[in-house]
Amino acid sequence: MGLAYFEISGGKRLRGSVRVSGAKNAALPIMAASILCDGEVVLHDVPDVADVNFLAELLRKLGLDVERRPDRAMRLVVRDEMNCKAEYDIVRKMRASICVLGPLLAKRHRAQVALPGGCAIGDRPVDLHLRAMELLGADLELVGGDISAKAKQLVGTEMFLGGPFGSTVLGTANAMMAAVLAQGVTVIEMAACEPEVVDLANFLSACGANITGQGSPRLVIEGVKSLKGCEHRIIGDRIEAGTLMAAAAITNGELTLENCRLDHLMAYVDKLRAVGVQVERRDASTVQIASARRLEPVDVTTQPFPGMPTDLQAQIMALLCLADGNSIITEKVYPDRFMHVAELNRMGAHLRKEGPTVIVQGVKRLIGAPVMASDLRASAALVLAGLSARGVTRVSRVYHLDRGYERFEDKLRAVGAEIERKEED
Ligand code: EPZ
Repeated sequence: MGLAYFEISGGKRLRGSVRVSGAKNAALPIMAASILCDGEVVLHDVPDVADVNFLAELLRKLGLDVERRPDRAMRLVVRDEMNCKAEYDIVRKMRASICVLGPLLAKRHRAQVALPGGCAIGDRPVDLHLRAMELLGADLELVGGDISAKAKQLVGTEMFLGGPFGSTVLGTANAMMAAVLAQGVTVIEMAACEPEVVDLANFLSACGANITGQGSPRLVIEGVKSLKGCEHRIIGDRIEAGTLMAAAAITNGELTLENCRLDHLMAYVDKLRAVGVQVERRDASTVQIASARRLEPVDVTTQPFPGMPTDLQAQIMALLCLADGNSIITEKVYPDRFMHVAELNRMGAHLRKEGPTVIVQGVKRLIGAPVMASDLRASAALVLAGLSARGVTRVSRVYHLDRGYERFEDKLRAVGAEIERKEED
């Protein structure tokens, strides 16, 4: 079987209603947190995406029964605590595998996790994860590219988890998962405030953990002896929602998004409104997006939550390609996350990269072309560009998109897009 690609005939207005899937970036750390639980965990609304399947495979190797149900529920139970090793084989496919480190160390007192290498969006070090484990009392050693960690009993402590680009999402998740079973109180300063971190804290609390401050930069965790299992619903995927908002805007369409919380997307929505897109809350989880007029340029700078998410930078760039004037996009989380720039230029965009900044000179229209996806969100930007372009766009390597979007082409087709998944010869 060849590699899959999308063929998109652009220019169709999107219209209708879409249900946003559960958040991949909330599901991954919560699945890993099941390592900590003595009882059964049932998660609802776990998206059927490649990254979730990679982690399920890793957790099975680590002795968990992981069972997927047809209604998007997932049941996880620890069966055997012997294996504490996350092999390079899986870690190199998915960096988020690093989030088994904290739970293994806290529950099984040892962990061996391959160090993730570089990836398409930049260096992505894990020094803050390792520092957090050391501060909690673990002994760490680098053995053949793996981090080998040991701790008879983790002990609560105060830690500052800020790096050169601000807070760390999975670093905070790892520290929190380790601290819930530590002896005494842990205070994490400069904790990530992302809704996915809050979802993890809520899950852990439902299992019996004692956590306060989630959603603020100061997390306080009082260690407990053990955690039970629980039933938990994963929050809606704010990045998928934001991508669909851009899809409505770029096609001058009108979409209603269900399972979408506007309070998780305020910085992005603020930018969309400045561009001229109408975004309205219908109720707590329903949002309506419409765009029928010309797009205004805006300047965008990515930041940790509650700032503009880096995971929507490529998508808003695709939209701003068609604005009436010049926009400036600055990436402050991953300064090298611009693989989509050259591909968008192949479609007639006028983008110029200067260090961590891209100057977007708006053009009247994009033109269909064969383009190549390089990472998850870059692929989404190319799909958006294809939806608006004149003619046919072929986006190859959509396996990048499949890592984080659940049957995205079906969702788009259901609201009027002309998009097909095909196999290369
Ligand atoms: C999470 O990655 C997300 N992944 C990413 O989503 C997202 O882009 C990122 O957060 C930022 O929002 C998951 O949740 C699975 P970070 P994470 O640690 O936690 C630096 C997507 O497309 N840093 O918050 O790994 C780092 O280099 C993906 O769905 C250190 O310096 O990101 C970056 O500049 C891609 N040392 C900044 O912090 C460390 O030890 C923020 O990264 C860790 C991070």
